[in-house]
This record gives sequence, structure tokens and C-alpha cells, in this order.
Amino acid sequence: MLKLINHPLITHKLSIIRRKETGTRDFRENLSEIAGLMAYEITRDLPLRDVIIDTPISSCTTSELSKGIVLVPILRAGLGMVDGITSLIPTAKVGHIGLYRDHETLEPTEYYAKFPSDLSEAVVMVLDPMLATGGSASAAIKALKKRGATTIKLVCIVGAPEGVARVEKDHPDVDIYLAALDSHLNNKGYIVPGLGDAGDRLFGTR
Ligand code: PRP
Ligand code: URA
Repeated sequence: MLKLINHPLITHKLSIIRRKETGTRDFRENLSEIAGLMAYEITRDLPLRDVIIDTPISSCTTSELSKGIVLVPILRAGLGMVDGITSLIPTAKVGHIGLYRDHETLEPTEYYAKFPSDLSEAVVMVLDPMLATGGSASAAIKALKKRGATTIKLVCIVGAPEGVARVEKDHPDVDIYLAALDSHLNNKGYIVPGLGDAGDRLFGTR
């Protein structure tokens, strides 16, 4: 299911990262902040369990998170979302998957994967700012399911309808979160209007 996260702060920061004049420093900072603001909304349904604790005054029953959280940024651009989320969830474990899109075929190629061992019990959040054809996200989710992940949330910032449709078809059990659903893909597979190449803008490689 697709969930659009709407908040004035997210909209404002998204306008900053969309602008072509925005440099690496501001792009990185605002992308990270958007990820943190999105995580606040996305984690609303995390399961809790009751615990009995002692305050300095008395004991009481309260609640704490009952499942571990694993963040899986898709390299490279997903890395820019990690710090914004770990500032809210410092105990989250972080796995990595490296995928790049072939410029001609737009098909993803996996070049790196390293995940925590306890994926089956965790809430796994796959991070990538861009959901274009959906090929990278779908391949990352497939790799995680192969290693036992069962509760997976896909967290992207800007998406195209084509990418949403692809992930919904390949992985109907995965919730998709976006800050913006844009118009379409151009003939090079870039999101329109989008924000350009997220990895290059984040790391200053172009
Ligand atoms: C970009 C982006 C996504 C992917 C989205 O990565 O960060 O991972 O493209 O496109 P898709 O939905 O069509 O698969 P890219 O392959 O450019 O690699 P990079 O992050 O290393 O620049
Ligand atoms: N990857 C990006 O970084 N940007 C797009 O618009 C599409 C894929």
C-alpha cells in the first residue's frame, strides 16, 4: 500500500533539494532531515510490549519497542537517509545493499550486500530517496526476503507512478512511503520533475 507523508516541513525541505541551484551541503542536510521527519510518521505503528520499571518514586507499568529495527540503505543515495533516522532510533541496526542501474537497460546490478543476522524478527526499513522504475527497490526487497525478512517498509522520498506500480506488483505485502509522488519518468528513466541524480547530488560526484 502507498502512503504519502504530508507535512509542511517536509514539503519545504523537499523544495530545497529539488532546486537545481542547491549545493551538496544543503542537499545532504535537507535530505537527512526529510528522512528523520518521515521516520517519525512511519514508526507510528511500531509494536510495543508492556514492561514494569522502577522510577525514582515507585514502580510502574510502561511500554517499550518490542521489535528490533533494521535500516537498509540502497547504496549510494540511501546512505543520505540513515543519520536522520538513527537520530530518532539510535538502536537501529544498519545493513547495506549496493545496487546500480545500468544506464542503457535501467536494470539494477547488485555489487554488495551485508545484513544483520536477525532479519526475520525485525522491522526492516529499505531506504532510497528515489523510486523511479522500481527495479532497485524491488531487487533490494527480494534480497532481504531471501535472507528471512518478513516485515519490510520501503521508504523513499520522491517516487514515480511506474516505480510504485512495480513494487506493488512484485511485493504486495510491502508498504511504500513517499514524501512526493511525481508525474512520470523521462526517456532516460529520471523522475519528472524529480530532483536529478540523487547519488551525484548527495556526494558531489557531478
Ligand atoms: C538511483 C537511486 C536508486 C535508483 C532508482 O541509484 O538512488 O537506487 O537509481 O532507480 P530505479 O527505481 O529505476 O531502480 P543509481 O543506480 O543511480 O546508483 P547510485 O545511487 O550509486 O548513483
Ligand atoms: N535515480 C535518481 O537518482 N534520480 C532519478 O530521477 C531516477 C533514478
